[in-house]
Amino acid sequence: MNFKLDHVGIQTADFDNTVKWYKDFFECEEIWSRTIEQLPVPIQNRMPLSSKLVELCKNDLRFHIFDIVTEHVQQPKNALHMEHFCVEVETFEELIELRERWISLFKSGAYTFVRDDMPTEIIPSSAGMQGFYAHDPNGIELEAFYLPKQQPAS
Ligand SMILES: [Fe+2]
Repeated sequence: MNFKLDHVGIQTADFDNTVKWYKDFFECEEIWSRTIEQLPVPIQNRMPLSSKLVELCKNDLRFHIFDIVTEHVQQPKNALHMEHFCVEVETFEELIELRERWISLFKSGAYTFVRDDMPTEIIPSSAGMQGFYAHDPNGIELEAFYLPKQQPAS
């Protein structure tokens, strides 16, 4: 069996801000948008705290962003949870550009962030891999990396 990641689901108390940021940071397009009433009842039943969701997409990267309409809490730091998601870019220049885009969007003042820490520096890792960590407006951690491709043997 092979698997391909289909989408990352993100629930947010700050829906419009989050959708705008994901569109701008990942250059996503909105593919579809639904209110909870437009979804099949079994799906409605598994999302009792939401009123709407959108699918955003950039190439193979897709996000399902949905709101939360009740009182909510931030996950405590010691909660077990999906800790981060990671995207790969094709060139080192793109990695630098993406990190600079993060900072530029943050400093623009056009978005609200629950955390105010900057992305990490670009961190070298094994096999020439380099990456940085940052967070989305909700404090969800994301990682971006570049891995040099093996040159084909000549
Ligand atoms: Fe990672």
